[in-house]
Amino acid sequence: MTYTLAILGCGVMGQALLSAIYNAPKAADEATAAFYPSKIITCNHDEPSAQQVTDLVEALDESPNGIKVESTYGHNVSAVKEAAVVLLGTKPFLAEEVLKGVEGVIEGKLLISLAAGWTIDQLSQYTSTVCRVMTNTPAKYGYGCAVVSYSADVSKEQKPLVKELISQVGKYVELPEKNMDAATALVGSGPAFVC
Ligand SMILES: NC(=O)c1ccc[n+]([C@@H]2O[C@H](COP(=O)([O-])OP(=O)(O)OC[C@H]3O[C@@H](n4cnc5c(N)ncnc54)[C@H](OP(=O)(O)O)[C@@H]3O)[C@@H](O)[C@H]2O)c1
Repeated sequence: MTYTLAILGCGVMGQALLSAIYNAPKAADEATAAFYPSKIITCNHDEPSAQQVTDLVEALDESPNGIKVESTYGHNVSAVKEAAVVLLGTKPFLAEEVLKGVEGVIEGKLLISLAAGWTIDQLSQYTSTVCRVMTNTPAKYGYGCAVVSYSADVSKEQKPLVKELISQVGKYVELPEKNMDAATALVGSGPAFVC
C-alpha cells in the first residue's frame, strides 16, 4: 500500500513529526514499510512558513523509507483530498476553522490530531476515525513521549500504522481518553520537571 499523509499546520510540532517520520530508519519488512507514506504534503497558512518547511526538508538527507515531501500553503482541501491520513498540527484555537475548511473531504480519512484539548467527540464531527495525541517538545529529537487515544471506529488494522508513525517521536503509550487530561499535564509538563 502506498498513501499520502497531509499535515494540516506544519509549525513546531508538525515539523517535529515530519522530521521524525521522514527520518525513521528503513523499515525491516514489507508490512512495516506499508505504514510509511510515500508522500507527505505539508499545509501552512502563508508562504514564509511553507518556505521554512522546504528549508527543513532540503537540509535532510534522503528519507530511508523513500518519503517525498511537498510543502504548500493555501491548499488544505486538495491536500486532504489526496491523503488517506491527515495529521492536524494547528494551534487548538485554529482547529475549528481549519477542520471546517476541509469538511466533507476529510470524511472517511484517518485523522491524527495533536490539538490539545480537542476531544475525540469534537473531532469525530469531521470523520469517525480519529486519534487524539498528546506529545511534547522532546519529540523533535526522538526523545518525546506521546499518549494516544482512539475513537471506536479506528480499526485494529489502522492502529499499528498510527503506532509506527507516532512512535518515531519517542515513547508511545495508548490510553483511554478519560486519562487524557492527566496525561496532558504529565506529558506536557514532563520536560520542565526534568530540567
Ligand atoms: N509546541 C509544543 O510544545 C506543543 C506540545 C504539545 C502539543 N502541542 C500541540 O501541537 C499543536 C501545534 O502547536 P505548535 O506549537 O506546533 O503550533 P505552531 O508552531 O503555531 O504551528 C501551527 C502551524 O499551523 C499553521 N496554520 C495556521 N493556520 C493554518 C491554516 N488555515 N491552514 C494550514 N495551516 C495553518 C501555521 O502556519 P502559519 O505560520 O503559516 O500561520 C503554523 O505553521 C497545538 O494544537 C498544540 O496543542 C504543541
